[in-house]
Amino acid sequence: MSEKRVVPKHVAIIMDGNGRWAKQRGKERYEGHLAGVESVRSVVRGAVRNGVKWLTLYAFSTENWGRPTAEVEAIMQLFCRTVMNEGESLAKQGVRVLILGERTRFSEEVLEMIDRIETTTAEGSRLTLVLAFNYSSRRELVLATQAIARRVADGEISVDDIDEELVSSSLMTASIPDPDLVIRTSGECRLSNFLLWQASYAEFYFPEIMWPDFDEGAFEEALEVYCHRERRFGKVLDES
Ligand code: IPE
Ligand code: IPE
Ligand code: MG
Repeated sequence: MSEKRVVPKHVAIIMDGNGRWAKQRGKERYEGHLAGVESVRSVVRGAVRNGVKWLTLYAFSTENWGRPTAEVEAIMQLFCRTVMNEGESLAKQGVRVLILGERTRFSEEVLEMIDRIETTTAEGSRLTLVLAFNYSSRRELVLATQAIARRVADGEISVDDIDEELVSSSLMTASIPDPDLVIRTSGECRLSNFLLWQASYAEFYFPEIMWPDFDEGAFEEALEVYCHRERRFGKVLDES
């Protein structure tokens, strides 16, 4: 770990390739999801160690409800079990957990677990771990648009008050800074409805490896790649 390395404040990861990882080993897709939990532990450790303050993990997209019922059910169960088992350890590491996404379609048990993990870890101040679960960026933008339109209709704000800041603060991510680095594993190079507004100026990194193979070393490698990127935000950098 190099001392002077520029560390991204917020890393967001699309954890992809669990199913392929399992199939390549003659296993059920579910076993890939299960193996992926170990990668989550690793990147959380890596983020804490490296001083990353925000880590967002895309765990379940709204579109993922369209998968076979058995797989969806297995993912929900895995979520509940992981939350049950990891809450204490996360709290000890100083990790605060936030769940990002619509609180619809979930069973009572899942809703309870969401509540539980957010409460157990509320005091964490070293890292905020955001789990995108039933998240869809387009849906988020629709909801924000509706909320803003309602405020205009109620006379609370005028159309001219709508600016980038208001849109940002009307999103589900209002309290979360924009990601600096977006990683998607498994070699797929797309966003799949993830943080479309927020990732406008993020750096992207698409390692080939499947999510269950992504460990702390792979996370370190991503940080290394990031620190060599030149972020210009549309400007010309000082050439001196
Ligand atoms: C990502 O792995 C996990 C979820 C979407 C829940 P996949 O299940 O998409 O794995 P592949 O892409 O089919 O290999
Ligand atoms: C995106 O992966 C969602 C998550 C990783 C949770 P998918 O595997 O669902 O995305 P597509 O279908 O390949 O675009
Ligand atoms: Mg996938």
